[in-house]
Amino acid sequence: MTARKIIIDTDPGQDDAVAILLALASPEELDVVAITTVAGNVPLALTTRNALTMCELAGRTDIPVHAGSIRPMVRDLVTAEYVHGKSGIDGAGLPEPTMVVTEGHAVDAIIELTMSADVGELTICPLGPLTNIGLALLREPRIAERLREIVLMGGGFFAGGNRTPAAEFNIYVDPHAADVVFHSGIPITMMPLDVTHKALTLPEYVARFAAIDTPAGRAVHGMLDFFERFDIERYGTEGGPLHDPCVIAYLLDPGLFGGKHVPVRIETTSELTMGMTVVDWWGATDDDPNATVMQEIDSAGFFDLLVERIARI
Ligand code: BDR
Ligand code: CA
Repeated sequence: MTARKIIIDTDPGQDDAVAILLALASPEELDVVAITTVAGNVPLALTTRNALTMCELAGRTDIPVHAGSIRPMVRDLVTAEYVHGKSGIDGAGLPEPTMVVTEGHAVDAIIELTMSADVGELTICPLGPLTNIGLALLREPRIAERLREIVLMGGGFFAGGNRTPAAEFNIYVDPHAADVVFHSGIPITMMPLDVTHKALTLPEYVARFAAIDTPAGRAVHGMLDFFERFDIERYGTEGGPLHDPCVIAYLLDPGLFGGKHVPVRIETTSELTMGMTVVDWWGATDDDPNATVMQEIDSAGFFDLLVERIARI
């Protein structure tokens, strides 16, 4: 089997960091051709530094990391230090990276890598606001017909929102970019809060990461321990939702997830519902389906996969 080529577009964030480690621990299935960073959970300088830190932790300093957009297309940047801590990866306990960023803006890298890959070869995995992907599509629309798929974490429908009652954080931060992406015609697989709120870091799972007595195991344990505090308090659950690794887990084992191919549109005008993903789950419109929206996850299988792969690092 040849490894599937992917670009991870990300704003680490503890859960982004775990997603990056999961991908880098799976070279037989996934060929990470680049990591591109975007402002989101924390400002761009920190998301870029955190991506470099994760490459170093995984021993993969060969991965090009391109820094991207410092703010959303239209709106002011909104960050989430209240969830992720000041650094974005509080709890990891890792030193500053020595690896340096690769030259070239993330938007240029996305365009160049897509145009030079074969048609249908490259998949983009956005784990943060969609600014870089939206800008790449505006600048070089031909990438739409060359990409195999976009598999993203974002949105919510029956689960509602987490940044506002209506909107999930990634889509809320740059709804205009999300609108461009959802109108692009690229096949989209979406991991909304409906799925990720079932991927809960229950104490027994967190303990399994602690038991992996390696730098990666300890870093993941420390990050999850930090990250889940906010969500446990907010949701009153036994663990926090581990959002972004769902994207990578889907590429490794799509059978862990179940969903439906449906029309999705993005709210970009009403301040009350800004960034809402309006999912036509019940076929109320004649709109064409543009995304496979996931709703189900085998969360025990998901954590088994995650623990097994992190232990390989
Ligand atoms: C998403 O927002 C960020 O806080 C997480 O990294 C994840 O990508 C969840 O809404
Ligand atoms: Ca993220």
